[in-house]
Amino acid sequence: MSWVLKDVLLYGEGDPVDVLLTDGRIAEIGNGLGAEESLEGAGLVLLPGLVDLHTHLREPGREDAETVASGTLAAALGGFTAVHAMANTDPVADTAGVVEQVWRLGQEAGHCDVAPVGAVTVGLGGEEMAELGSMADSAAHVRVFSDDGRCVSDASLMRRALEYVKAFDGVMAQHAQEPRLTVGAQMNEGVNSSKLGLGGWPAVAEEAIIARDCILAGHVGSRVHICHVSTAGSVELIRWAKEKGWDVTAEVTPHHLLLTDDLAATYDAVFKVNPPLRTQVDVDALRQALADGTIDCVATDHAPHALEDKETEWGAALPGMTGLETALSVVAQTMVETGLLTWRQVAERLSETPARIGRLDGHGRPLAVGEPANLCLVDPGARWTVDPAAMASRSRNTPFAGRTLPARVVATFLRGRATVLDGKPA
Ligand code: DOR
Ligand code: ZN
Repeated sequence: MSWVLKDVLLYGEGDPVDVLLTDGRIAEIGNGLGAEESLEGAGLVLLPGLVDLHTHLREPGREDAETVASGTLAAALGGFTAVHAMANTDPVADTAGVVEQVWRLGQEAGHCDVAPVGAVTVGLGGEEMAELGSMADSAAHVRVFSDDGRCVSDASLMRRALEYVKAFDGVMAQHAQEPRLTVGAQMNEGVNSSKLGLGGWPAVAEEAIIARDCILAGHVGSRVHICHVSTAGSVELIRWAKEKGWDVTAEVTPHHLLLTDDLAATYDAVFKVNPPLRTQVDVDALRQALADGTIDCVATDHAPHALEDKETEWGAALPGMTGLETALSVVAQTMVETGLLTWRQVAERLSETPARIGRLDGHGRPLAVGEPANLCLVDPGARWTVDPAAMASRSRNTPFAGRTLPARVVATFLRGRATVLDGKPA
C-alpha cells in the first residue's frame, strides 16, 4: 500500500510538503502528490521514527508486566520504530537462543523493530562473561551489551568485555552503580533522604563507575555507552572523557529531565527508580548537557512492573517507571518548549544518534528520497493528559499520571506501513 503525507513540515522546518511512501521507502517529496491512502498533515512535524536504546520488555519471564507485543505497541504509539530490549529477563538474554527468541517475537508482533541487548555476564551474575560473540553472530545481530539493572562492577571483567566487543563493533552499555556504595539505597542521598529516613543512593556511586569506565574505554580503544546519566557530576566526567577523544556516549531518561527527589515525600513508589530521581541542580545540568551534546541521546528506560510490585511500601517496591508512550511529550516540555532543542535536534537525540550507537541499519535515517520509510508524525500543538489506564503497556507505573503534556504522536510508519494512525493502533 502507498501513502502520501500531505503538507507536513520536515523536522518542523521550511514549507509544507507532501511525502510519498511506496514499497517501504520515501519515494518522492514534493507538492500535489497522490497515493492509495492519504493523511492530512497540515501543521504536523515529520520526524524519523524514534529509536530507544533502553527498553525493558519483560518477555520471557514477566509477561504479566509486559510482553514483546504489548511493549512494542506502546513504543509505536510513542513514535518509536525500533527499541533495544534489555537483557534482564527470566531467563536472562545471555545466549544466542534467548536473543533470537526476543528478536523473532518482535518481528511477529510487527509494531516496531526489536534489537535485543545481550547480557555481559552469565545470568547477570557479574562473574563469568556470556557468549558475546555468538549473540553478535546470531539472527538477532546483537551489538549492544549490558547487564542493566546491575552494574558490571568488576573492573577486570569490564576491561575484557570492552576488548571483546571491539571485534564486532559492539558497545558496552553500563548501568553505572558502584554496588558497595549503594547497599540499602532507596532514593537519592541528600536532604530529602535524611528527612524521610530512606537509605541514600549517592551521586558518587554513579560517578565513580563512569570515571573508571571512561578511562578503561580510552585505554582499550573501545566503545562505552553510559545508561541513564542522572547527576551533574556525571555530566562533568562525560564532558572530560569526550574532550580526551575517547569513544564515550551517554543517554538521559525523560524522567530525569523533569522530576526531582522531592516526589519521594509522597512515599508513592511510582517515583522509585534506579538510578533515583535527583535534585533540580542535576535536572538543569542534564538538560544543558543534552542541549550541548555532552549527553548524546534520550533513552526511556521503560521499566514496566506489575501492580503488586509497585503498589506496596517504598522499601519493598521494585524500581522503574514506564516511559515509551510519554517520552516525546516530556522531551517537548523540557527541551523544546524551553528553547533548548529544535525539532531538528530532537530527531538527532531521539532517532539518529541512538540508531548510530546501536548500529541499527535502516533507522535514524534522513528524511530523503530513497530512505526507508520509518517515520513518526507529531502534532506539536496538541495537549493531552496522561491516563495510565489508557496506555498500551500492560503496566500502569507511569510517574506522569494526571499531568498534561505537550505534543502528541499522530502516526507512526514502519517501512511504509502504518503502525499508528490518529494516535491509535493502526
Ligand atoms: O529503575 C530501574 N528499573 N532501573 C534499572 O536499572 C532496571 C529497571 C528494571 O528492570 O526494572
Ligand atoms: Zn539501568
